[in-house]
Amino acid sequence: MAIRHFPDDFLWGAATAAFQIEGATREDGRGESIWDRFCATPGKVLNGDTGDPACDHYHRWRDDIALMKSLGFPAYRFSIAWSRIMPKGRGAVNPAGLDFYDRLVDGLLAAGIRPFVTLYHWDLPQALEDAGGWPARDTAAAFADYADVVARRLGDRVKHWITLNEPWCSAFLGYWTGDHAPGRKEGPALAAAHHLLLGHGLALAALRAAHSDVRAGITLNFSPADPASDSDADRAAAWRYDGFFNRWYLDPLYRSAYPADMLALYAQMGQAPPVQDDDMRIIAAPLDFLGVNYYSRAVIRDDPQAGGLRYAHKRPEGEYTQMDWEVHPASLRRLLERLHRDYAPTTLYITENGAAYPDEVSSDGGVHDPDRVRYIARHLAACHDAIAAGVPLRGYFVWSLMDNFEWAFGYSRRFGIVYVDYATQRRIPKDSALFLRQVIAANALTE
Ligand code: NOJ
Repeated sequence: MAIRHFPDDFLWGAATAAFQIEGATREDGRGESIWDRFCATPGKVLNGDTGDPACDHYHRWRDDIALMKSLGFPAYRFSIAWSRIMPKGRGAVNPAGLDFYDRLVDGLLAAGIRPFVTLYHWDLPQALEDAGGWPARDTAAAFADYADVVARRLGDRVKHWITLNEPWCSAFLGYWTGDHAPGRKEGPALAAAHHLLLGHGLALAALRAAHSDVRAGITLNFSPADPASDSDADRAAAWRYDGFFNRWYLDPLYRSAYPADMLALYAQMGQAPPVQDDDMRIIAAPLDFLGVNYYSRAVIRDDPQAGGLRYAHKRPEGEYTQMDWEVHPASLRRLLERLHRDYAPTTLYITENGAAYPDEVSSDGGVHDPDRVRYIARHLAACHDAIAAGVPLRGYFVWSLMDNFEWAFGYSRRFGIVYVDYATQRRIPKDSALFLRQVIAANALTE
């Protein structure tokens, strides 16, 4: 039996996001967000599911804090709903919205749980979308104003801030494939991506101006790309995919420039990000940490017939989760080592990692999720390997604290380590929660 100890100051956490758990979408002056509108549009979300009641966390947050405490989590990552703070996205501030998060933060601190706050986890106020959304440059400025309001209210107690969650998804699923809100197809996704990054840089400055001792970063979703074969064509395709998915964000943030190979490819398609003077400097402001969301890798082959970046996915033999995402922990270790080698973030956190499986409550009243336990254990081992190799990985947040609204899949995909019975709102810790409780208590993984 091998015991893998984690560093003494390694931080264990659980993660959620506002729209996925809160419910109460019309309460206390909250404004409409693009996800409310998207859910109300027939055919967009599986089974017509909506953000209500989700996990009813807006009313049950005290119980949810107690739940986290009982599992031993020293940290919690959650997001703030912009439209609770500024119902129209800019201008008038809604005091009831700020009060909610104020109470939540105090409750967490009283329970000894450190808050990690994400400012933007995909729920843009609809009024800003109506004014152009992320493709409009003004949205970046509105985001910075919102960051300023929130930081001034909570920054005395919240010391860890994440500006954006997975801007690739906001830009490309929101404005190119249309799979996510606002559901625009083949829209100006590069402009959206650029203004998200600009908004990040401006928000970072606002956070630091409000409280000089905060630690601020961004969370990116990574999809390490392996070529489907050793051929030069497949290798080049995997590199293009990496440019599209990973480097398009990493290079501006850490090198102050979009990757030249990708700029050239986009130029051939008649596209370019709308960069103005000074944007790249603002975007590349030093980060206190990089948040890594990792679920799976991609295996990529060249496909001259495919439009755009001329690649196709190959589905390798292997183990898959209910999302049809391959289970591939070795790619997490390689990703962490590559980030460290190529971009050298001072600190990294895994801000999300986890898996969906079709869980059920068993006759003994428990929820037995051995696949998820194995998934988490194997990814923790990969983290441990990366730390041993010198990567400054300082924490791991599991996705998710509890089952919740999985975007276009509605409630049909359960990522929680705690089961939610949506009819009664009863929470049942799954075996994976009990497993993590042990890992946290021992600060070690036993294999
Ligand atoms: C990434 C997103 O940040 C989160 O909202 C989502 O539920 C998980 N991945 C699982 O798809």
